Amino acid sequence: MNFENITIEIKQQMQIGVITINRPKKLNALNKATIEELNNAFVALDQDAEVRVIIITGAGDRAFVAGADISEFANYSEYEGSQLAAKGQELLFNLIENLSTPVIAAINGFALGGGLELAMACHFRVASDNARMGLPETSLGLIPGYGGTQRLPQLVGKGRALEMILTAGMIGTEKALMWGLINHMVALEQLLPLCEKIASKIINNSPVAVASAISAVNSGFGDQGYPKEIEIFGACFGTEDFKEGTQAFLEKRKAEFTGK
Ligand code: COA
Repeated sequence: MNFENITIEIKQQMQIGVITINRPKKLNALNKATIEELNNAFVALDQDAEVRVIIITGAGDRAFVAGADISEFANYSEYEGSQLAAKGQELLFNLIENLSTPVIAAINGFALGGGLELAMACHFRVASDNARMGLPETSLGLIPGYGGTQRLPQLVGKGRALEMILTAGMIGTEKALMWGLINHMVALEQLLPLCEKIASKIINNSPVAVASAISAVNSGFGDQGYPKEIEIFGACFGTEDFKEGTQAFLEKRKAEFTGK
């Protein structure tokens, strides 16, 4: 691929493209550069007829992705907040969901906030047994802004999704499996081999039919909730609770919310 990647790695083995998000010291948090690099990588791999399945995972054994990079948006205005969500959804989350090439999320550790939203934008998910999943945004004075308020209820149902979003808590792989958030749970060393095994079954099938199936399945889910999510996400940036929530995270202390 003829562009430089700093925060991700791309490997092509046989007909499988493997993208690894590579910021392990920051638990692979998604910053602007990572989102742009991922956009370039997904577009390029999708256009390459040799690549029949894409797997996305995180570097190291602690995190898939621990969310959007909080240090990058802590000082954003309401407008910048809504742009952050709108751009991210367009460049990455909606792009993945509507890609012709199937994308498997190999969740190798924490998948939180934007990290779980990234996994949920993929066509399905496989997790290692050390993984922890959640949407912790309300603990920062925010709501999920990369499609989480829409895709989590699609996968686990409205009540479970609201429990996860409102408590900001994490669930382990057993519950995630029972709830349908992930399709399979394996030991960490088996994670990529299992994803590759599933990929090899997909590769046996017609690429045209596979792409058509993705398109047909996606057409059954409405998309009118996403603009509303962007609008409400942006409005959160104007609150004192957002400033307190993000500052508290960066200062490694518990947030004191006032409801303003
Ligand atoms: N954005 C920016 N930096 C992040 C991050 C994020 N979403 N998640 C983790 N990091 C950074 C930490 O600030 C820390 O950096 P430092 O070493 O320079 O201080 C490093 O990654 C390691 O994280 P740390 O919090 O020290 O690890 P931990 O084992 O104590 O806790 C988590 C792990 C995942 C529970 C914790 O990092 C966390 O809660 N992350 C944020 C999750 C979140 O709210 N995501 C949604 C964002 S919208």
